[in-house]
Amino acid sequence: MALNRALIFLGPPGAGKGTQAKRIAHHRKVPHLSTGDMFRDAVTRGTGLGKLAKPIMERGGLVPDEIVMGMVEERLAQPDCASGFVFDGFPRTIPQAEQLDAILKRLGFGKPLVIDFEVSSDMLVRRLSGRWTCSIGGEIYNDFEHPPKVPGICDKDGGKLLQRADDRPEVVKDRLLAYERQTKPLVEYYRRQEVLEVVQAGASVDDVHRQLNEILARAER
Ligand code: AP5
Repeated sequence: MALNRALIFLGPPGAGKGTQAKRIAHHRKVPHLSTGDMFRDAVTRGTGLGKLAKPIMERGGLVPDEIVMGMVEERLAQPDCASGFVFDGFPRTIPQAEQLDAILKRLGFGKPLVIDFEVSSDMLVRRLSGRWTCSIGGEIYNDFEHPPKVPGICDKDGGKLLQRADDRPEVVKDRLLAYERQTKPLVEYYRRQEVLEVVQAGASVDDVHRQLNEILARAER
């Protein structure tokens, strides 16, 4: 079934936003819009945007709002966004959320549905330290919970699995801090708009997926 809305996955680094966003976007045939993936792609290609974002990401900070917003607006203008999309890691600050509200209105979408991924910080650190991502298709694995059949190789397309530079423990600490200071206030922002739902993201991947589908089914009734 088409999504016909903006779905926003909110939550700290390692909460499982990317894992779930890929599944939901695939089932609903809408784009998965991860600003983190967009910046990593720009870094890999060595573009001007990538050169700007790289040092900020490496120290666990947030890319300035105006840069993020320009990139997002450009992406939302693509025709594949016409029947909805899943945001993963965006918005991340109050100004980003306010500007997104205006953009969604202009594009004719109603209010977004926002899902807050709740999970303990001990679990986040463990998940990030065990994460591997496919260099071809972006499939996400985890040494502890969801290891690949052959270490270092993607089950789906045989791509090489890579660890993210910002998953080093010293950077994770600063990413968690940036989340607490700049992104967590969005929980209250969206609660006030009465568009916030919560999933218990410490559960298994399948169980979180089930919780999300229940929320979507309720929202679509
Ligand atoms: P970004 O790429 O968005 O990273 P993040 O928000 O820190 O989130 P992660 O990708 O680390 O975690 P996730 O919640 O997606 O977890 P995942 O599913 O992979 O951003 C990176 C950087 O880009 C930022 O620090 C910033 O510099 C910049 N940036 C991006 N957007 C920006 C913006 N809007 N404004 C400014 N700057 C921006 O899962 C983690 C691991 O856990 C995996 O190994 C997975 O297999 C495992 N796992 C997932 N779910 C479960 C489960 N239920 N049970 C067990 N294991 C699980």
